[in-house]
Amino acid sequence: MAKPESKIIPADQGETPGNRQRVSLREAFHERIHANHMHGLWELASQMTRHPRPKMIPYMWRWSVLESIIKESGEAVPVGDERRALQLFNPGLGGRWATTNNLIAAVQVLLPGEVARAHRHTPTAIRFIIEGTGAYTAVDGERVYMAPGDLILTPSWSWHDHGNETGETVVWMDGLDIPLIQSLEAMFFQFYTAPQVPASRPPNASKQLHGHAHLSPTWVKEKPQSSPLLLYSWDQTREALSALRENDGSPFDGVALEYRHPQTGGPVMPTMACWVQLLRPGQQTKAHRHTGSAVYNVVHGTGSTIIDGQRFNWSKGDIIAIPPWALHEHLNASSTEDAVLFSIQDTPVLEALGLYYEKALEEKDGHQEVTSVFAAT
Ligand SMILES: [Fe+2]
Ligand SMILES: [Fe+2]
Repeated sequence: MAKPESKIIPADQGETPGNRQRVSLREAFHERIHANHMHGLWELASQMTRHPRPKMIPYMWRWSVLESIIKESGEAVPVGDERRALQLFNPGLGGRWATTNNLIAAVQVLLPGEVARAHRHTPTAIRFIIEGTGAYTAVDGERVYMAPGDLILTPSWSWHDHGNETGETVVWMDGLDIPLIQSLEAMFFQFYTAPQVPASRPPNASKQLHGHAHLSPTWVKEKPQSSPLLLYSWDQTREALSALRENDGSPFDGVALEYRHPQTGGPVMPTMACWVQLLRPGQQTKAHRHTGSAVYNVVHGTGSTIIDGQRFNWSKGDIIAIPPWALHEHLNASSTEDAVLFSIQDTPVLEALGLYYEKALEEKDGHQEVTSVFAAT
C-alpha cells in the first residue's frame, strides 16, 4: 500500500526562496490557530512521551532542617484559623502546592493548649505522628488520640479539629491528595460554626469497633469508601513488623505492609495507600519502577534510597518524595538496627484507572549505578 503523504510540513533546511515561503506560511498559520485557541497535534507530539516523564523531582527534606523550622514556626506563627502546617513543595513543580504530582505532605505542629479550628474538605488526609503523645484529632465528633508511630485518618468531607491538652509539643506528618483534587477541580472547604465539633462518640470509638484485625462487627452494614477505622496504632504496627521480621518480604521493598480498610481489605483511602516497611540491618532491595508517586517518612534507623541513580542518605524524620516511574531501591546502612519507613502512595488511583504498571530493573543484578548523592538545594 502506498504510504500516505505526510500532512506535516517538513523541517526546512537551506535558504531557498521556496523554503522561506513555506516557513512564513507555517508561522502565519500557527499564529492564526493559536489566536483561535487551537494547537496542531504536530506541535504537541513531544508530550506523547514513550514513558512517564514527571515534572516533579526526587527530593528529600531533612529532619534537622524541618525540626529547626518547626521550632521557629511555633514562635513566629499563631495557630489561628489555618493550621500551622509546613507544606513541602517539590522544587520541580514550579511552585505548585504539591510534594508529588498527586500528593502533598506537610509537617504540622500543635503546641500545648492549642486547638486547630474545626473544618472539613474534600481532600482526604492522613496523619503520621512523629513526636508527642496525648493530643488528638477529632473526626466527626470522635477524638482520636495520638502517640508516635500512629496513623490517623481524616476521610474526605469529615469534620475535624486538632487539640493538644498535654504539656508537650506534638508534631506529625500530614499526607493529603490536594494536587489530585485540584486537578479534578473537586475542591470544597468549610469551617465549622464553632472552634470544635461537639463530641458525639467516645474517644477512639472506631478502634474499639473496627480495630481487631480479623474480627469485624457483623451488625455494622455501612461500608464507607474510606476505612471506618480512624486509628492504626503503632503498637499493632510494630507487632506485625516484628512478627514478619525474618520473612524475605518483597525483593523491592523488604517487609512492606499495607494498612488496610478492615471491611474491604482495600487501601485505607480511595486515593491514598499507606505502607510501613522494615529493612533488616544491611538489607538492600532491588530496583524497580512503577506508575504512581510516593512520599516516605523515616520512622527509625539510617539508610539510603537510590532514585534514578541519585543516592538519598536518610535518617529518622527525613521525608523523601519519589516520582512516578523513577527507579528506586532501598538500603538499610546499619549493621545492627532495623530501619522502618512509612509512606503514602497514590497507587489506588492508578489501579482504579487501570494505569498501574510496574517494572523491575533487569540489568546489573537489579541494582542501579550511583551517579550522584543528594544534597538539598
Ligand atoms: Fe484539614
Ligand atoms: Fe516501589
